[in-house]
Amino acid sequence: MQEIRIELSKTLKQKPADNELRFGRMFTDHMFLMNYDLGQGWHDPRIVPYGPIELEPSAMCLHYGQEVFEGLKAYRTADGSINLFRPDKNMARLNVSNERLCIPAIDEEFCVEAIKTLVNVEKDWIPSSEGTSLYIRPFIFAVDPMIGVHPAHHLIFCIICCPVGAYYPEGLDPVKIYVEQNYVRAVKGGMGFTKTAGNYAASLKAQDEAEQQSYTQVLWLDGVHRKYIEEVGTMNVFFVIDDEIVTPSLQGSILSGITRMSTIELLKSWGYKVSERQLSIDEVAQAYDEGRLKESFGTGTAAVISPIGELKWGDKVMHINNGEIGEISQKLYDNLTGIQWGKIDDPFGWIVKV
Ligand code: COI
Repeated sequence: MQEIRIELSKTLKQKPADNELRFGRMFTDHMFLMNYDLGQGWHDPRIVPYGPIELEPSAMCLHYGQEVFEGLKAYRTADGSINLFRPDKNMARLNVSNERLCIPAIDEEFCVEAIKTLVNVEKDWIPSSEGTSLYIRPFIFAVDPMIGVHPAHHLIFCIICCPVGAYYPEGLDPVKIYVEQNYVRAVKGGMGFTKTAGNYAASLKAQDEAEQQSYTQVLWLDGVHRKYIEEVGTMNVFFVIDDEIVTPSLQGSILSGITRMSTIELLKSWGYKVSERQLSIDEVAQAYDEGRLKESFGTGTAAVISPIGELKWGDKVMHINNGEIGEISQKLYDNLTGIQWGKIDDPFGWIVKV
């Protein structure tokens, strides 16, 4: 395994108080960098002071979006130790995104070590109050100074960290979601299953319009029939209909969330009936009208478990579970975060200690 060179910053920033934390606004003192050059592979892994990265204006990532990223968190436990949650899954997914975007594969095991090393350098930045954590953002971007459309030969892998509280201002209070009917996020054969900047750029307009109507995020429908539920802006989505917990199956246009995967595994371990299948918005609306839609929630690293209290689809407004957090959402939140913060046993072996 390559050695990671560490250059510590001479000046350290003032850390925010836990109650001032917002999502993704303040970054720690150091970052991890590694370069890829054709013929050399990934090389020169290093931790250096956080700061600007010099790029040529012609750098390919700025023009054609050859970029991929990940998101995971480090959690401070009551005994002061540090937990990562399934970081191997993030690195495996990064390679799935890499493959789709013609980015050279990373060594997953080495990159988990890189994350651990960086988190260890930044350990004083990990907040300890309820609901807080250190968000870790690994990303890779193309830097060839060339504006011909072509897979890059030179790339940078960077990891930055920020102490965070809840992603949504609502915290665990149910969010209001707008069912998007005009814009489309992705189609099969596109990049919807990857974590790449372009998917989020494609979402901004709809997100902005939803926010103007006081909705927190949009629920995407499939790009072909405009009928089947895909995912919400920054999370996967689940619906409890009668005694079945349904989430859209992974068919190439939605993100394979690690919180989604863990949620399914938790629910199945408790004996719930979980279905990964096609689910139309009409089916959800019909279940709502018939009083069979009991709960809905989103899952994501940033969003954790986020109950959905309202869905607006055209003129139809569905108030789910009286706008309150449901029993299953609460149980999932308690157990998932319980494992992440080391408050309860981890029977699945998901936690990796730093
Ligand atoms: C995450 O949940 O980690 C994400 O990457 C969503 C993000 C766009 C905030």
